[in-house]
Amino acid sequence: MMNRKIMIAPSLLSARFTHLAEEVRMVEDGGADMLHLDIMDGHFVPNISFGPAVVKQLRPTVSIPFDTHLMISHPLDYIEKFADAGSDWITVHTECDDCVASSIAMIKDLGVKAGLSLNPATPFSEAREHMKDLDMLLIMTVVPGFSGQKFMEDVMPKLREAKQFIDDNKLNIDIQVDGGIGRQNANIVTANGGNILVAGNAAFGGDEPLASNVAAIRKVASEGQLQ
Ligand code: DX5
Ligand code: ZN
Repeated sequence: MMNRKIMIAPSLLSARFTHLAEEVRMVEDGGADMLHLDIMDGHFVPNISFGPAVVKQLRPTVSIPFDTHLMISHPLDYIEKFADAGSDWITVHTECDDCVASSIAMIKDLGVKAGLSLNPATPFSEAREHMKDLDMLLIMTVVPGFSGQKFMEDVMPKLREAKQFIDDNKLNIDIQVDGGIGRQNANIVTANGGNILVAGNAAFGGDEPLASNVAAIRKVASEGQLQ
């Protein structure tokens, strides 16, 4: 398996919304590689989070890339707004109601890195035709909608299948894994081929300093890549 650089992406959804700038600076100081922004429309998922205005106001508070995960039914209506707000990566879902190929093309035309996400129940085959156009594939390890859910280890065969496809075809694609990841299982994610690890509760929750959370997740993730 060809190892790629491990990146830790704390998810803003688990931060204290009254202290966003402060908490985002703390995870950046702790070595976070990007900030994961979970955008929910109350339609694609049964929850509503925040929109481009919040992203835009947060943008100048840190310098790490913004990684926007669109859990919305109609990404074509919003991609430009999130690009303008300062997203460096934008990910859409295969299960959305818009044309996936058009969504990916729009993201790339705006000069933003393009990601495509698969819900736990969606097979890798749904992503195959788009792989050549992607910068990142996102494999969900929870049913999207909420932070703090349990990691679904039964998604690991799909993760391995995706990694094998990327290696076999010599594609330059990162695999992000999202949902229920923390220091208790980060090594499982990397051992199965994931290299960008999203962490909501594990990064922003608990009693330890936020910076040390990021470092702890990275350490366990590195151990998995060595296996
Ligand atoms: C789930 C979101 C995830 C989630 C991560 O709908 O896409 O990014 O907030 O949170 P944890 O790590 O707590 O599962
Ligand atoms: Zn997410």
